[in-house]
Amino acid sequence: MEKPWLDRNLPVEERVAALLAAMTLEEKIGQLQQVANLDDEQSEAVRAGRIGSSLFSSGAWGGNVKDEGVHRETMRRMQALAVNESRLGIPILYARDVIHGYRTIFPIPLGQAASWSPELVEQAAAVAAREAAAEGLHWTFTPMLDVTREPRWGRIAEGCGEDPYLCAELAKAAVHGYQGDDLAAPDRIAACAKHYVAYGAAEGGRDYNTVDIGPRSLRDTYLPPFRAAVAAGVATVMSSFNDIDSVPVTANREVLTDILRGEFGFEGFVVSDWNAVGELIQHGVAADDGDAAAQALCAGVDMDMVSGCYDRALQARVEAGAVALETLDEAVRRVLRIKVRLGLFEQALSAFEGEPAPLLTAGDRALARRVARESMVLLKNDGVLPLGPETKRVLLTGPFAEADHQLFGTWTLDGRAEDVTPLAAALGAALPKGVELRVKPWSDEAVYHGRTVDVAVVAVGEHPCRSGEANSTVTLDLPAGQQQLLEALHACGTPIVAVVYAGRPLSIPWLAEHARAILYAWHPGVEGGTATADLLTGAAAPVGRLPVSLPRSVGQVPVYYNHRPTGRPVPERTRVHSRYADSPDIPLYPFGHGLGYTRFDYVDLSLSVTEVAATGTLTVAATVRNAGERAGTETAQLYVRDPVASVSRPVKELKGFQRVTLQPGESKRVVFTLHVADLAFTGLDMTRRVEPGAFDLWVGPDSTQGLHATFSVTAEGAVRAEGAES
Ligand code: GLC
Repeated sequence: MEKPWLDRNLPVEERVAALLAAMTLEEKIGQLQQVANLDDEQSEAVRAGRIGSSLFSSGAWGGNVKDEGVHRETMRRMQALAVNESRLGIPILYARDVIHGYRTIFPIPLGQAASWSPELVEQAAAVAAREAAAEGLHWTFTPMLDVTREPRWGRIAEGCGEDPYLCAELAKAAVHGYQGDDLAAPDRIAACAKHYVAYGAAEGGRDYNTVDIGPRSLRDTYLPPFRAAVAAGVATVMSSFNDIDSVPVTANREVLTDILRGEFGFEGFVVSDWNAVGELIQHGVAADDGDAAAQALCAGVDMDMVSGCYDRALQARVEAGAVALETLDEAVRRVLRIKVRLGLFEQALSAFEGEPAPLLTAGDRALARRVARESMVLLKNDGVLPLGPETKRVLLTGPFAEADHQLFGTWTLDGRAEDVTPLAAALGAALPKGVELRVKPWSDEAVYHGRTVDVAVVAVGEHPCRSGEANSTVTLDLPAGQQQLLEALHACGTPIVAVVYAGRPLSIPWLAEHARAILYAWHPGVEGGTATADLLTGAAAPVGRLPVSLPRSVGQVPVYYNHRPTGRPVPERTRVHSRYADSPDIPLYPFGHGLGYTRFDYVDLSLSVTEVAATGTLTVAATVRNAGERAGTETAQLYVRDPVASVSRPVKELKGFQRVTLQPGESKRVVFTLHVADLAFTGLDMTRRVEPGAFDLWVGPDSTQGLHATFSVTAEGAVRAEGAES
C-alpha cells in the first residue's frame, strides 16, 4: 500500500512509524501546532501540513461569553482540505471546551461532584461526548481535576472540590464517559485531564497566580486525581499556567515527564494550556519563542496550544541541534497515536455526512434533570420543605427566579437560553392545584408581597459571568443588593426558603441563621429550574453532599476538612491554639454535609480484622437505617486517620463512599473494602509508603461525625477479629 498508515489492519505502532518516516521536519512540527478557530484564511498552512489541531473557542476563557458555535461547514471544508490536498493527508484534530455538556448542559462539574455519583458523572460525560462527536469534534478539554480549597478562585466551579479521593473517583468516571472503551467509536471523544498540576493552589485564590506547595502536598493532594485519570486511560493531559516553587509547569520536566510518564505511565500526549508555552517568557524563564519552545518540548509538552512558538521557532532549534530530532519525533508519535486510535484516518469526514444526530433529546433532558436534582445540596431545613399542603400562598422572587441561561454556569459554549424552563415556570407547573404562586421582581414589591404569603422562595446567588476562569473574587458574600432585600423580607416576618445558584462556595451565615431552609443549587444546567422545583415540592428528595467546605467568611479561607492537625489543634473554648479570635473555627457547613427529607441512623460498625498487613484489605461494614417517614438516599462516607506517622497526616481522609436508597424503616448494611495500600502517602524519605501502626476510621454522614473504630497495620498477615463479619 502506498500509504501504509491508512491501513486500519496494521497495528497502531506500525501505522505511526510508517507515517513518521514519511514526514518532513516541517510536517512533524505541524502536527504539534494547535490553532484556534481554523478557517479558510489558514488554507495554505493546512495544505502544507502545518496545522495538526484546531480548537474552537472565541477566547482563552470563552466559557464566560456567548461563544461562537462550531461551524460544521467550515470544519468539514478544512478537514477535506487536509485529507485530500495535503501531501500526507493527515486529518486535523478538532477540539472544544465541552466542559459540562455540549447542547445538553449539565450542572457545573462542582455541582456534579456534589452528587457523589460516579455513575451520573459518567452518564453525563457520555451524552456530552455523543453530542460533541455528532458536531464533528474529536476532543474535549475536560475533566478538570484541580483539587482546590480556594472558593475565591473562580475555577473552583470546574473541578471536583477539596478532596483528592472524591476527585480521583470522579476523574475515572468522566474519562470513561467521554472515551468509552474504544476511542474510534462514533459517539466518543478524547478526554483531557487538566490542568496538570496544582493550578488550584494559586496564592490568594487569584487565577494564574504563583503556587508554592511542598513536594508531599503535590504528591498526596494535587496529583492523585491525575494518577487516576491516567490509570483510566485518559488520552491527553493539559499542562497548567502556573509555576510550582518557581518552576512553570509547562517547562517542568519533573512533573511532565518523570512523574506523569515515568511514575504514572501516561502514554497519551500533553497539550499546553492556551499560550502557556509563550508565557514562559512572561514567567521569566525563557528569553524568546525558541527558548520557550525548546524548554516546553523537552519538558514534555507535545502540542502547543495557539502560542505559535513551536510553529515559529522549533525548526531552527532542531536544525541547530539544540533540540534532539528524537525528542520531536516522540512528541509527534504521541499525537499521531491518538489520531489513529480516534479513527481519524478512516472517519475524519463521516461526522459531516448526512444530517447531524439529534441533540438534547428527551432522554438527555431527563438525565440532565436527574443530575441537577442530585447535585443540589439541602444545607438546612426546619421542616418547611418540601412545601406541603398547608402552604397555600408562595412568593417566588430573587435574581434567579426567572433565570434561563444564567443557570448554565461558566464554560457553557453551546447551551441555548430557550432550552431552559426557568424556576418560575417550573414551580408554577409543579405546585399542587390551589396553591397560589406569586412571582414578583426582586424589589420592594417582593417585600410588600412577603407580608401576605406563607413562604417566600428566594432564588439568589452569583451570575456565571463572575464564575470560572479569570474570575477570582475578594469576597464570598452574596453579590451586591441581595442581602439587603433578604433582611427586609425577614424583617417583615416572611418565612424564607433560599435557593442559592453559584459557581463557588459562598459564605452565607445570615441565611444559615435566618432562612428556614437553604438549597445550594450551584449552576445546575439546562434542567436546573425543573430540578429545583422537583426538590421544593417533594417530587424528589435532595441527595447532594458538599464536595467543598462552605466557609463562614472569606477570612476563614482556606478552610477544608482534610487539614493537618498542627501542633495546636483546636479544642473547644481555648485561646492559644490555631484559631481566629473573631470567628468560630469550623466551616459554616462541612465537607460531605447534605440533608434529605428523612433521617438516617448508623449502627453496628464492624471490621473484618483489627490487625491487617500492609498488603492486605479490611472489610468495614455498618448498618444504615432510614429512621424517617419518607424514602431517601444516604451517602455513607468512610474516613480514616493515621494519627502517628513519619510525617504529619491529615486529621481525616475520605477513603470510600456509597449511596444507599432506603424506604422508611428500611435498613441496609453498607460494606467498604479498604485496601491498606490506599492508605499510602509520601513519607519522610519522600517514598510512597504505608507505615505500620494504629489507624482510626469512621463511617458516617459527613466529615464531622460517624461510628468510630480503630485498626492497626502490621507487617505480618492479618489477624481475624472475634466475631468479625464473615
Ligand atoms: C483556557 C483554559 C483551559 C481551556 C483552554 C482552551 O485558558 O485554561 O481550561 O481548556 O484555554 O479554551
